[in-house]
Amino acid sequence: MDRILYEGKSKIIYEGEDENSYIIRFKDTATAFNGVKKEEIPEKGRLNAEISNLLYEYLEENGIKTHLIKVIDETTILVRKAEIVMVEVIIRNLAAGSFSKKYGVPEGTPLANTVVEFSLKSDELGDPMINDSQITALKIATAEELKEMSEQAKKINELLSGLFLKAGIILVDFKLEFGRAGKEIILCDEISPDSCRFWDANTKEKLDKDRFRRDLGNVTEGYKEVLRRLKDVIGV
Ligand code: TMP
Repeated sequence: MDRILYEGKSKIIYEGEDENSYIIRFKDTATAFNGVKKEEIPEKGRLNAEISNLLYEYLEENGIKTHLIKVIDETTILVRKAEIVMVEVIIRNLAAGSFSKKYGVPEGTPLANTVVEFSLKSDELGDPMINDSQITALKIATAEELKEMSEQAKKINELLSGLFLKAGIILVDFKLEFGRAGKEIILCDEISPDSCRFWDANTKEKLDKDRFRRDLGNVTEGYKEVLRRLKDVIGV
């Protein structure tokens, strides 16, 4: 394999095929609470890569620009080189997780509008929530970039909420990362059960990383179920 440029908690970034690309490998490692809880989850890398690749291909077909160039093997992809915007964009359709905790709202409570949140990408600081005027004040992103990322995120939410509902899954909330590539803002990172909350539409059973965060067990099985249902609706 090529030279490692960066090793994150769940992915490794290698030099790409040329100066405009990177190679990303998905790891089996799972972390929570900013890396305090850490475990190897069998098959997680392969499952997340396949789920994310299917979703990125679906989004591309529906007009979203993403970093994905091609799939190399079951845990490895070639992506467009981009300068990551150092904020995470979080979209919420129902109250859950930190939102429920912070605002004292039971998980599953419907929201009168889609919530868009930003948090600063900083392991050192524990990814603190940050608002748009703070982001522009610190020159982390421009107002135009924030508007573009919010609009893309809402469009991605519409596309994926519809797709997952067909698979009998509620997309409760999720996290996105964007990057600057030339003059464009493109979707980077991954969309997988690590970065989304997926609930079974009928039973409300959790099929995502909350199984790991909350010690609910059968983590791999949840991820496998998401992939199985996704393949069913996408028709692969
Ligand atoms: P939260 O409710 O803990 O703020 O999480 C919101 C969404 O963001 C949830 O779908 C999980 C995802 N997420 C990540 O992808 N990475 C993280 O580090 C955290 C804390 C959440």
